[in-house]
Formats: sequence, structure tokens, C-alpha cells
Amino acid sequence: MFGNLFGKFSKDLAIDLGTKNTLVYTEEKGIVINEPSIVVVNARTDEILAVGEDAEKMVGKTPSHIRAVKPLVEGVISDFEVTEKMIKHFINKVHSDSFTITPRPRMIIGIPLDITEVEKKAVEDSAKSAGARKVHLIEESMAAAIGARLPVSEAVANMIVDIGGGTTEIAVISLGGVVTSRSLRLAGDVFDNNIIEYMREEFNLLIGNQVAQNIKIKIGSATPLKDSLEMEVKGRDLLNGLPKAVTINDTQIREALSKSINQIIDSVKTTLEKTPPELVADIYEQGIYLSGGGALLRGLDKELAEATKISVRIVDDPLTSVVRGTGILLNDAELLDKVLAPGEEEEL
Ligand SMILES: Nc1ncnc2c1ncn2[C@@H]1O[C@H](COP(=O)(O)OP(=O)(O)OP(=O)(O)O)[C@@H](O)[C@H]1O
Ligand SMILES: [Mg+2]
Repeated sequence: MFGNLFGKFSKDLAIDLGTKNTLVYTEEKGIVINEPSIVVVNARTDEILAVGEDAEKMVGKTPSHIRAVKPLVEGVISDFEVTEKMIKHFINKVHSDSFTITPRPRMIIGIPLDITEVEKKAVEDSAKSAGARKVHLIEESMAAAIGARLPVSEAVANMIVDIGGGTTEIAVISLGGVVTSRSLRLAGDVFDNNIIEYMREEFNLLIGNQVAQNIKIKIGSATPLKDSLEMEVKGRDLLNGLPKAVTINDTQIREALSKSINQIIDSVKTTLEKTPPELVADIYEQGIYLSGGGALLRGLDKELAEATKISVRIVDDPLTSVVRGTGILLNDAELLDKVLAPGEEEEL
């Protein structure tokens, strides 16, 4: 009875706790939070100074007793306490916008595919201490596929490749479950590091992560472009410590990224090799779907299509597909029951 009563008044939440971005979705309003997964902490007092967008502005500019913490690394929680505080902060922000009575909400949270029991429990516990009444965990690949409106509960193969900041998750889904999968701890952050390394080796130029990410987004690509792109990059000359600017082009950045891109492509191929033939036939018909921020890298879809001989599509709004898929489950108990992460079924 109380469950129903709470259910009626509380705002249940769908959360994509990403390495790079945290998104929160409510049934009533859709996506209500979409901010970087960063928290700025005063190390002397343990006080939280800023979270999300506000915290991002401070990265690299803090004095020594103030730390900018990214509580998730490679898709999993690395700092439990800070994660809990971050979730709490975002939930308060959601609830402060409304005048309704808001008892403890139910939360559905996306988790990576190859997460350990301990890592799973960390997600559950941090959500509970942040105020969740009940926590359901769902695999992010499944959520991304649901967000892309793929027929996940039918007897047909859906292949989804989600390239985030920390992990690339490759999954073949059929009849509400993941049939074959591969999870790589290689995604957008590694691309950025590849660019940092390239700039150091080729130009003796030291650049930060933010600059590297800008280069990737502005001129990065996985396949040769029709029109060449170039940009000026500023950093520190490692030889004399002084500021220096160099101009780089898409060919150079493609070279910097090629090893990582090939690793992702090889993993997709390996996953296809492990997939039962009937399902491979389906994938050949349906194509491969790309989601996550990494899906936006120029020409990645084309390169993957050429390597696999299968058509590749980028899902609509790839940066929000996981949270939108998780959000759909807030109001679809039947589908939620079918697609909960393994080991979570008894939670209902
Ligand atoms: N236009 C773009 N081109 C290339 N990469 C992009 C683009 N836009 C965003 N990205 C990259 O996408 C990544 C973030 O994607 P996303 O928000 O899906 O990750 P996440 O869900 O936080 O991480 P994870 O799923 O690994 O925990 C970042 O590495 C970012 O640099
Ligand atoms: Mg993600």
C-alpha cells in the first residue's frame, strides 16, 4: 500500500551515470539533468564546492587544497563517497524545481556490461544513500537500444555499439537479453590521450585534455574526408617551456586515432564472430547501431561499415540514448522485468 502511495507522489528517476556525463530523466519532464560527472571538493574540509557544469569550469584552475574529482573511471565508480554526493546533488536539483511532495524515489540506473558484483553494489549503495527507495540496474547497451527504439524483446538480433568517454560496449541483444557482448575500456578519453601523445611526439607540444577533446570534435575523423580540416593548437613547447602554436590537420589526427579506432573495429568483428549464425543474418539485415558521444566522430560509421560489410547507423541523439531508454522503463514494468541486468530480476 505504501509502495503505491509513494509511487504516486514520488518522482522516479532514470539515471545514466557516465564516465563523462551524468543524465537524469523524469517521466514528467524528460531529461532534467545533463552535466559533466565532475565534483570539486575542498580537501581540507571535505566540503563540496561545485558539481557538474559549475565544477567543470574550475578544472585545471584550482589551488592545491581544492580538488576536481571525476568519481567515475572507465565506466565504474572509483570514488564512492563523491559519487553519492554527486547523485544527491543532482536529485536535489530535480526536486527543488517542483512543489510536489517528494518522498524517496525509485531509480533505474544504467551500468556497464562487464561490471563486477562489487562495482554493481557500489552503484546501488550510492543511489540508496543518495535517497533512492529502490534501485533497478540495467545494462547500458540495453538502455541505449531501447532509447533507439530497437525491438529488444523480439526474436531478432539488435547490435548496438555504445562508445562513451570511458568504455565501448558492444552488444547483440535478442529476446530481452544480451546474447554476445564485449566491453572495452577504450573510448573517448583514450582518443583524447592519443591526441595528447601525438602532439607531444610530433611537435614537442604539451596540451591538456580539454584542448585534446576540442581537437577531436573539431577536426577528428576515422576515415579520409572530402574536404580537409585544420586548426591552430596552442600549448606549451616542451623544449623551452614557452607557449607555442602549431597548425594541424585531419590527416594527422586520423593517424593519432587510428590504432584505437582499429581496436574498436576489431572488437566489433570478434563479437560478430562469437554471435550465433541466425543472429548474424539478422544483423546483416538490420545493420549495426552506434550510440554514445564517440558515435559522433566523423566517418566512424563509414569505416565500421566498410570493415564489417554491414550497414551502420548512428542512433538519434546518441549522447542521450541511454538515459532515454532507461526513462522508457520507468513507465513500462513489463519491459523492465524482461530486460533487467542479470542477477537483478529478484529486485522487482
Ligand atoms: N562530436 C563529437 N565527436 C567525437 N567525440 C565526441 C563528440 N561529442 C562528444 N564526444 C565524446 O563523447 C564522449 C562522451 O560520450 P558519453 O556522454 O556517451 O560518455 P559517458 O556515457 O559519460 O561515458 P561511459 O559510457 O563510457 O561511462 C567524450 O569522450 C566526448 O569527447
Ligand atoms: Mg555512457
